[in-house]
Amino acid sequence: MKTILITGGAGFIGSHVVRLFVNKYPEYNIVNLDKLTYAGNLDNLRDIENKPNYTFVKADIVDFPSILSIFEQYKPDGVIHLAAESHVDRSIDNPDEFVFTNVIGTVNLLNAARAIWKGNMEGKKFHHISTDEVFGSLGETGFFTEDTGYDPRSPYSAAKASSDHFVKAYFHTFDLPTVITNCSNNYGAYHFPEKLIPLMINNIIQKKPLPVYGEGLNVRDWLYVEDHASAIELVFSKGKVGETYNVGGNNEWKNIDLVKLLCSIMDSKLGRESGESEQLITYVKDRAGHDLRYAIDSSKIQNELGWKPSLTFEEGLEKTVDWYLSNQEWLNNITSGDYLNYYKDMYENR
Ligand code: NAD
Ligand code: TYD
Repeated sequence: MKTILITGGAGFIGSHVVRLFVNKYPEYNIVNLDKLTYAGNLDNLRDIENKPNYTFVKADIVDFPSILSIFEQYKPDGVIHLAAESHVDRSIDNPDEFVFTNVIGTVNLLNAARAIWKGNMEGKKFHHISTDEVFGSLGETGFFTEDTGYDPRSPYSAAKASSDHFVKAYFHTFDLPTVITNCSNNYGAYHFPEKLIPLMINNIIQKKPLPVYGEGLNVRDWLYVEDHASAIELVFSKGKVGETYNVGGNNEWKNIDLVKLLCSIMDSKLGRESGESEQLITYVKDRAGHDLRYAIDSSKIQNELGWKPSLTFEEGLEKTVDWYLSNQEWLNNITSGDYLNYYKDMYENR
């Protein structure tokens, strides 16, 4: 019986990874370790929470003594580390929290894994989930490959880059069996409505302004979250220790075009007149240091491990919009809390 410890499993991507492993591997113990910050939500896992191979542990990865005792208690054979502060705008407002969780939290997990695996690394794996944002910002052309130099430009990406370096250092220095995946922007169900796609979906439903930063010309490469989860499963099971793998959707969109596409899909689903939601688009002051373009070359994971995305963007976006329309209670539970207080002054304070 294997035990896999997944951190950040109550968040957006983590909940899809937990669900995939719990359902696909009934013979494994899946332990979800999460602090339940504003972004963590056990409602994301209601469908699997009573499965016999699933355990939830509330803990803060910044607190080393409690992390070590959890590792000693559950003795995981594998770690899939997703817990992080994940929102660039919040990292601009409050970088410190990103250093604590993303850097120190990651080092704490590496130390705990090292402590319990010392002398017996056979069959063990520490999979660190990272982002393409560590590579910096592209111009109009080119792609990030695994060999692209790190050039993080936001406090979020600087903290993620730092955590990647520690993971690589623990592989080289202590032979810790690590793998890293660097993925592009995800979208799908259970995405916290502070990120572009779910925020726009929520505001379109509520007929609220759709805040497009700057001129809306920044480009992101969007991947359906379940395709990211399947890439994580593949790299966790078959990825070569010490390697990094880029994961992306080969699916670049300018923000403004994406927001207009969402408006038109939702006008037809909500029975509104064509063009009605587009009138909600409001250009707001740009994000400080806003990276222009991200685009991933994922040929390594495709060629070496046989991964490929399962859905087209049109299919994924339609599924996502349908999910939000059928789960408005999930959205309301989040947006009726202090969520609104945080956003009230954000654009004015930039
Ligand atoms: P999220 O913000 O939705 O979830 C993060 C989870 O981590 C939450 O459940 C939160 O409670 C938990 N957490 C935060 N601080 C913690 C702490 N100190 N101790 C324990 N748990 C803590 O994030 P997400 O979008 O699901 O991203 C998951 C991971 O994937 C992150 O490492 C992120 O950098 C990476 N990533 C995200 C994207 C994306 O598009 N969202 C793309 C590439 C990589
Ligand atoms: P986001 O979802 O925050 O992801 P990231 O910054 O990590 O790529 O933002 C995606 C893009 O959308 C980014 O270029 C910023 C832009 N954006 C807006 O224009 N308006 C918004 O309200 C948000 C949240 C993002």
